[in-house]
Amino acid sequence: MELYGTQTVNSKGHLEIGGVDSVDLAHIYGTPLIVYDTELIRKRAAAFRETFSRMGVRAQVAYASKAFSSIAIYELAAEEGLSLDVVSGGELHTAVQADFPRERIHFHGNNKSYMELNYAFDERIGCIVADNFLELEMIRELAASRKQQMRILLRVTPGIEAHTHDFITTGQEDSKFGFDLKNGQADEAFRTVLDMPYVELLGLHCHIGSQIFETDAFTLAAQALMKKMEQWRAEEGFVCSVLNLGGGFGIRYTEADKPLEPAVYVENMTEAVLALSAEWDYPMPEIWIEPGRSLVGDAGTTLYTAGSEKTVPGIRTYLAVDGGMSDNIRPALYDADYTAAAAGKMDAPHDTELTIAGKCCESGDKLIQAARLPRMQEGDLLAVFCTGAYTYSMAGNYNRLPRPAVVFAEKGQHRLVIRRETYEDMTRLDLSLQQKVRKEQS
Ligand code: LLP
Repeated sequence: MELYGTQTVNSKGHLEIGGVDSVDLAHIYGTPLIVYDTELIRKRAAAFRETFSRMGVRAQVAYASKAFSSIAIYELAAEEGLSLDVVSGGELHTAVQADFPRERIHFHGNNKSYMELNYAFDERIGCIVADNFLELEMIRELAASRKQQMRILLRVTPGIEAHTHDFITTGQEDSKFGFDLKNGQADEAFRTVLDMPYVELLGLHCHIGSQIFETDAFTLAAQALMKKMEQWRAEEGFVCSVLNLGGGFGIRYTEADKPLEPAVYVENMTEAVLALSAEWDYPMPEIWIEPGRSLVGDAGTTLYTAGSEKTVPGIRTYLAVDGGMSDNIRPALYDADYTAAAAGKMDAPHDTELTIAGKCCESGDKLIQAARLPRMQEGDLLAVFCTGAYTYSMAGNYNRLPRPAVVFAEKGQHRLVIRRETYEDMTRLDLSLQQKVRKEQS
């Protein structure tokens, strides 16, 4: 079994993450527990950043924080010199709580509310990625009435469909996101922005999908956007200074996944832009990217405790764990595959096939269809790998299961960064019909 990042097996046969024994972590913090190998996140961030600087290209690497949003990860992103992509007032609030440098915050979303945009203006964030005409009008009004400068990118759909799961493909024409590049919408948006006082257009943005393993799609997207930029220069004399090519770089969930190194994606897209910039004598734009999954995905491991087992003779054996679709909806939503190991007996032969079931009241609550594990007993620790992206951030309280705790582990140290929800948390927003109506004290 190929482990991830700093993971090793120690002399007790336990899985170690960031130099910390996972069995100890489970004892200290309980399960389910998401453990992040933060050294791996730092390594990935450096790989993206350094590739751009090696190629002599000005760039921003913005962490797409929908993958995992929390104060601590935003603090880590700031330390690593990353910018930050937020997609809601809630994520922006988290960034503010983390005191993330405002000028490096980029605000995304296909239906930002006036209130959210106003919040972005209040915080004087670096850039809004404008998605539609309604939003442009709200930005126009806010900038003019506040007499406040705002920098924007226009999100466009270049009509490129990356080879990935249908549900997570966003670059094709039939998309709820952005201005269509081919049917004149993007041109109309461009002309609208040029006429907006206090609003500075930096350039274009696209995001063509997620969990992408090939570089061609990014190259094609870069070329399509550069072509539009060149057209605008020819027609209006306007030069874009930023080209944002989004995220979507794939990672290895199972052995079937063959991702490229972060550097390879960056090199390919950058070369394509450098080539066109030279050919057309177009000033080289700053390149921005927005990796989410590839920064945090394989750095996260979820630890569960094994519970009940059920054998359906001749068909399969289910092993149930103390979490499930409430902390990881991806198998149920996207048929996502994961690998697992027995964190407390890594040296035992992993030669039994088990279906890992969650504890939610739903037959579809299966985390792994066919995991290879040793024989498991109640109380054994199960590690599900590669759960750092789109798990906690998509978690819910179905069946009123409290969301797990989250820990950072690095160089033998561990630190709780999100505490486990309690039963009290489960009812903190509930109001009882029995509660007496209290008169407001004047
Ligand atoms: N930029 C934009 C505008 C995006 O919409 C996304 C992801 C990213 C960057 C980051 O993409 P990444 O590098 O993480 O692939 N919930 C799905 C993934 C949805 C992706 C949404 N947008 C999943 O669990 O697979």
